[in-house]
Amino acid sequence: MKTYHYPPFLLFYLVISTFSALGPDASNSLYNHLQLVYLWPSTFCLDRNMVCKKPVAQNFVLHGLWPADRAGNSLVYCSRTGSISRALTKYERQLAACWPSLSRHTTNRQFWQYQWDKHGTCVLPRMNVLHYLQLMISRQGKFNLLRALTSNNIKPNGSSYPRCIIEAAIRQEIGTRNLHMSCLNFRTRLFIKEVYMHLDVSGHKVVSCPISNKTRGCGRSVNLVFSAAASRV
Ligand SMILES: *[C@@H]1O[C@H](CO)[C@@H](O)[C@H](O)[C@H]1NC(C)=O
Ligand SMILES: *[C@@H]1O[C@H](CO)[C@@H](O)[C@H](O)[C@H]1NC(C)=O
Repeated sequence: MKTYHYPPFLLFYLVISTFSALGPDASNSLYNHLQLVYLWPSTFCLDRNMVCKKPVAQNFVLHGLWPADRAGNSLVYCSRTGSISRALTKYERQLAACWPSLSRHTTNRQFWQYQWDKHGTCVLPRMNVLHYLQLMISRQGKFNLLRALTSNNIKPNGSSYPRCIIEAAIRQEIGTRNLHMSCLNFRTRLFIKEVYMHLDVSGHKVVSCPISNKTRGCGRSVNLVFSAAASRV
């Protein structure tokens, strides 16, 4: 029979980390799942407080990868790690394509560092910054939300579509039952802003989002607008 022995130092580490995980300081870093959040740039840039770089991308981009607790609340600012500039250099080109800063006032690197400080640090010590960035790049490449929607005749042309049809199209793409969306209220119409899918702790498996009664700006609306480029006049 084959048995597996932990090296003594690892055992020591496990004991220590179990104890420290029970302490008040480390409780923030125990996440239950990861939220992979996509953003529809045309809606994000409708917001009056937002000045976007031009041209505005006509595809979903990542907003972030956010560790969350069992109830679906994201954990924030779990520890201080300083600059992740060296890790960013390694993946800069890929990150610029899938996770750009849309705001004209924020460079990509400022945005990535901010996201890491706020959300990314909550994956420690399960993942390090390189794993975190790799995971985002590899996960987002697996799904094509825009294709999933357009192939169901849901086009980003400023028309509104039944929310259940939108969700069904996305579920078909990500292969799970429950997802979340957020919306922006612009001139009394509700626009699709974000799509949240949930990943397991390792980030390798899509899981159902926790059932939640938060409306995330979408109200109880049965129709949502899929905004076209430059809807803001
Ligand atoms: C947007 O596309 C849908 C699906 O093809 C179509 O039914 C709708 O009329 C279009 N809306 C506009 C404003 O062109
Ligand atoms: C939403 O759920 C929470 C806890 O699950 C509950 O306390 C709250 O009353 C609910 N809110 C609404 C509007 O149903």
